[in-house]
Amino acid sequence: MNTTTSFKDYTLNSCLLNASGIHCLTVEDLNALSQSQAGAFVTKTATLHEREGNPTPRYFDTPLGSINSMGLPNLGVDVYLNYVIEYEKSHPEKPCFLSVVGMSYEETISILKKVQESDYQGMTEFNLSCPNLPGKPQIAYDFELTHQLLSDVFSFFTKPLGVKLPPYFDMAHFDAISTILNQFPLAYVNTINSIGNGLYIDVDSESVVIKPKSGFGGIGGAYVKPTALANVRALCTRLNPSIQIIGTGGVLTGQDVFEHLLCGASLVAVGTQLYKEGLGVFDRLNRELSIIMKKKGYTSIEQFRGKLKDM
Ligand code: DHB
Repeated sequence: MNTTTSFKDYTLNSCLLNASGIHCLTVEDLNALSQSQAGAFVTKTATLHEREGNPTPRYFDTPLGSINSMGLPNLGVDVYLNYVIEYEKSHPEKPCFLSVVGMSYEETISILKKVQESDYQGMTEFNLSCPNLPGKPQIAYDFELTHQLLSDVFSFFTKPLGVKLPPYFDMAHFDAISTILNQFPLAYVNTINSIGNGLYIDVDSESVVIKPKSGFGGIGGAYVKPTALANVRALCTRLNPSIQIIGTGGVLTGQDVFEHLLCGASLVAVGTQLYKEGLGVFDRLNRELSIIMKKKGYTSIEQFRGKLKDM
């Protein structure tokens, strides 16, 4: 059984990574991810300056998943940029991607200029989809803004760049975002971020369960798998083949990983279940995926990746 996977110029031992935001805030978190059975990993989304994030409690595990409104707590881009520069010198076999977004248009440009001018050669993930900043709509739900930002970014950015997208729920929106993304030399898209601004309530206390934004927050876990698979599939069938896909959303079992791969994902990220289960989740999912592949007679991921059948 061969579960190695190719992603851009990398050959990875596993198709799994963490979803940004989970287990990747501190250098200790990142070092632990580097030692895990994930094939790659990604930092918490970094802003130009350190941020405390929203008031707590701001993450809550629900029976079927999670709700969060973290508000981009992070150590500031310099910490993560220095980490990935040092890390990539000694770990060519398991890449660490750098996730970033600015708190404004200008800040995004400054951050990406900093990355461009640095010694970092690895993958940068531009997060177009944070749902938890009070008063700030998600960038990728504004198609004109997304096109403008990517045009500006690619006027100077020549390193490998992916984008993290929010979920879309309409065929016209799959068409619209794909038309925009296909105009740029993107390395990959990561789909989906959490389903934004859900509401989970506790019946006993008749209360919301997280403090920011009157309890509204991004939904992850089992709730989101059909939406995640739809987004992976819709983008896979619309994007230039050079733009690879990281599938994120609703991954609890090896079968969920298999389903993302079948829809066309090249890598599969784990968020809520990593939070709930810890780093051992990667070893379990790798094993469960191998068992499914063996049962089906597949000896490599390439034999079924993207090959979902119509009826
Ligand atoms: C946060 C949440 C997200 O879904 C995201 O993409 C970035 C940041 C957050 O609340 O910290």
